[in-house]
Amino acid sequence: MADQLLSAFPTNILKRHLDGMEEVNLQLAALVAQIAASEPNSTAGTTTEGGFQTKDDFFQRENPGLAALKPHIFSAVQDYAGLIIRQELTKPPEKVDFILWGWAVAYQAGHTQGLHVHPGANISGVYYVAAPPSTLEAGEAGKISFYDPRPRATMAQLPYQATRHRVAPIPGDMYLFPSWLEHSVSAFQGEGTRICIAFNSKLILE
Ligand SMILES: [Fe+2]
Repeated sequence: MADQLLSAFPTNILKRHLDGMEEVNLQLAALVAQIAASEPNSTAGTTTEGGFQTKDDFFQRENPGLAALKPHIFSAVQDYAGLIIRQELTKPPEKVDFILWGWAVAYQAGHTQGLHVHPGANISGVYYVAAPPSTLEAGEAGKISFYDPRPRATMAQLPYQATRHRVAPIPGDMYLFPSWLEHSVSAFQGEGTRICIAFNSKLILE
């Protein structure tokens, strides 16, 4: 009889690329710049070091780019919620609802985000609006890293064992992941602003 591989408790990172977002990304970048020029920085008390972060009411703003992006985020969260329900629950809920909130972060050279999780949410995600050239090169500059969440997975570390999964902030790319999955953002050097829109969703299941 053939072997079977049982993947117990896998960690799912959903990557979705949105095509044709160039104009939307310009509108979003303009909105973030306008907020950064007129409102206080909300990085205090967060792991964002340097950079500018909006309040978490970003999705309530009026902006054509945001109006175009929101349905994509909504539908990705719905899809990811389905994944969680199928994978994690022993009984499917009768009703699935969720609340969603988001914020934008703009980083320039030298800015970072320390290791963190997103308490109070079930599904978290990020959408990339703008990426400086150095963040798209090989290496860790400007990348987000997701860390191996298995507590003892590195107790007898093997040579070249991958302990984190790194991705580049390619504009139009969106990643959804469990809110408990630790992640961080490395600094980049050089010109440009790295802009992302982060979001959280709390599932309401009945
Ligand atoms: Fe985060």
